[in-house]
Amino acid sequence: MSRRPQVGIIVGSTRPVRVGRPVADEIATLIEAAGGDAVMLDLAEIALPLLDEALPPASGVRSQPHSVAWAERIDALDGVVFLTPDYNSGYPAALKNAIDYLKAEWVDLPAVVVSYGWSGGASAAAQLTAVLSYIGLDLQGEGVRMPFQPTDFDDAMRMVDASAFVARSAEPLRAAVAQLVEVSAQAERTAA
Ligand SMILES: Cc1cc2nc3c(=O)[nH]c(=O)nc-3n(C[C@H](O)[C@H](O)[C@H](O)COP(=O)(O)O)c2cc1C
Repeated sequence: MSRRPQVGIIVGSTRPVRVGRPVADEIATLIEAAGGDAVMLDLAEIALPLLDEALPPASGVRSQPHSVAWAERIDALDGVVFLTPDYNSGYPAALKNAIDYLKAEWVDLPAVVVSYGWSGGASAAAQLTAVLSYIGLDLQGEGVRMPFQPTDFDDAMRMVDASAFVARSAEPLRAAVAQLVEVSAQAERTAA
């Protein structure tokens, strides 16, 4: 029997209070419902230092245990969701750092970009898409943009209800995740 595709969610924001993680948890539920196994890759928990390898990632040579562990986690995936906020019209430094650690592990990996922000994170998504295309990931569709509304936040700028926020983008998210899970199942990058 074929195993379920392993679909990662890379949580690009690392702030102690953030929208990213609850949104990622909702996306994990959609991946599971679409027939994949959701693999949470929360950059706040993984806590990669700023790239500290002597040789460039394309060399495949890694000296640091955290680099080896990160490479193994990505290599074990059949597909991946990049979840990014919009920070000053770009995507977070922690996410770029995590991407820059690797090369071969990314190539041909089916991927979807999901972004959020006041304009749906469009600027971050555009930048991230350009970088992922350059590296050679197998980007699926246009991705999903999730725009905030003022009522999403309380007076302290904390998101009131992440589920309701995600629910507004439920259909495009469900469609993008379903396509990613399907392509990931076909990709079978790792042993079945
Ligand atoms: C450093 C920083 C820069 C931001 N710049 C933008 C921006 O350019 N456009 C935007 O729509 N929101 C911007 N915001 C607001 C974020 O979209 C909002 O805080 C969101 O919750 C950030 O995602 P996170 O909570 O997962 O970190 C910025 C927030 C931070 C912390």
